[in-house]
Amino acid sequence: MPSTRTAKVLIDREFSIGDTDPRLFGAFVEHLGRCVYGGIYEPGHKTADAQGFRHDVLDLVRELGATIMRYPGGNFVSGYNWEDGVGPVEDRPKRLDLAWFSTEPNTFGTNEFIDWCRIASVEPMFAVNLGTRDGDAARNMLEYCNHPGGTAWSDLRRSHGWEQPHNIKFWCLGNEMDGPWQMEMKTATEYGRIATEAAKMMRWIDPTIELAACGSSSRNMATYGAWEDTVLEHTFDHVEYISLHTYLNNYASDTPAFLACPDLMDSFIEEVIAIADAVAAKRRSPKRIMLSFDEWNVWYRTRRVRSDRVKEGWPVAPPILEEIYSMEDALCFGGACISLLNHADRVKSACLAQLVNVIAPIMTETGGPAWRQTIFHPFAQMARYGRGSVLRAHVQSETYASRYFDPRGANDHYYEIPNAPYLKLSAVANEGGGLSIFALNRDLEGEMRVTISARGFAPLKVGVAQQLHHNDLSAINSKEKPDNVAPTAINGIAIAGDQIQFTLSPASWNLINLVPA
Ligand code: AHR
Repeated sequence: MPSTRTAKVLIDREFSIGDTDPRLFGAFVEHLGRCVYGGIYEPGHKTADAQGFRHDVLDLVRELGATIMRYPGGNFVSGYNWEDGVGPVEDRPKRLDLAWFSTEPNTFGTNEFIDWCRIASVEPMFAVNLGTRDGDAARNMLEYCNHPGGTAWSDLRRSHGWEQPHNIKFWCLGNEMDGPWQMEMKTATEYGRIATEAAKMMRWIDPTIELAACGSSSRNMATYGAWEDTVLEHTFDHVEYISLHTYLNNYASDTPAFLACPDLMDSFIEEVIAIADAVAAKRRSPKRIMLSFDEWNVWYRTRRVRSDRVKEGWPVAPPILEEIYSMEDALCFGGACISLLNHADRVKSACLAQLVNVIAPIMTETGGPAWRQTIFHPFAQMARYGRGSVLRAHVQSETYASRYFDPRGANDHYYEIPNAPYLKLSAVANEGGGLSIFALNRDLEGEMRVTISARGFAPLKVGVAQQLHHNDLSAINSKEKPDNVAPTAINGIAIAGDQIQFTLSPASWNLINLVPA
């Protein structure tokens, strides 16, 4: 019988890291595989409305609680002509998509996505093409979307049936422009120049927009660090955000390392903050560049095998990157949620990549049902209970050492993770006096007895307490068994004065939401 570990946590209502921005709970819709076609959009599906939007998917998107939605890519955007996706559908061209080796029918585009966002109650986040195109296409697109009328581009939007401007606030200046897989990748200097010029023109058209420059496409790129520095030297005065992307993996079939690897996201975030602040320091500037973690998830099974990424014959909406997530993946994913929450002071936007079918929390069958993958649950809990002020938690927990293999880019290597605490935790003081604890027990064998001293709160009682736990770490959800891995209640939570005590199952993700008694 494995022994029960103990862990202690000290928090104080007054010791805040920062408030979570609603945009921290975003996701991503790319023209990729069955994310758009057969995912959010499937004319003829029994739940589809007149515009072809699947309402079973919309219901799950609302339950997921995603707040902002990045669109239309991803790698796709680096070859996208936005003009192809507006106007009468019958006049729109089919194009080869060189990002995913498929045929893009363009029957869904900018205006349809805006309508979908309004129905889903999410804010749109648009990326512009700075791969095959430049600032000119970006400024025209912004004029089409956000200018009220009286110019050729804005009147074209009105003639297409959208009288009112879309008022899209958040814009990404390209995508992963350092990656050799990108259409027209750039050096940091080339990209920094183009991004600056695009940003200038876009802001002249609409001074209310917010702009994100591309950071490295992963921490593992050979150019990581130097890229951020050079890009921000160019764009510092013109952007609010720099982007980060991370896909966590278990290629090595090493569960302890896999569960520890979200700690590398903490390092990644802190490094990018340091670089951004060094650029500010050289200018003696009080401006702080915020972080847009606009692609993050677990992704590895469907990543390196060509047949999982490419279906031959240039098909429309092929079933690619359809990663099936396990219980183990949900634990690592939950750790990533905690890393994001604990940097709420600087990570002001984040997008789970992606939303439906493609490395996604929601799966659909074409013509059939939609269901929740394992990773749906930690995200939905974070999006719902992670609102408020993230507290600086002092965690006393035993630690373990592991080595994490990350094969991306030119820099394949093992990262040493010498001190991962078995308990990874975030505490959020919610509006109205409540407290939400997100806790990952990384001990695969033993339970964990946790004692939290929570200072500065009025008396609390349990609101919602749920764990995600399954005896089989390879357990998955499927169309046949959609709730095989689903939250269950945590019992036996004791609250006495400012002391909160509970026991976590081995290898479990947990949400404990306390409300004023
Ligand atoms: O999310 C899948 C892909 O991963 C995106 O298109 C790209 O930006 C990243 O490399």
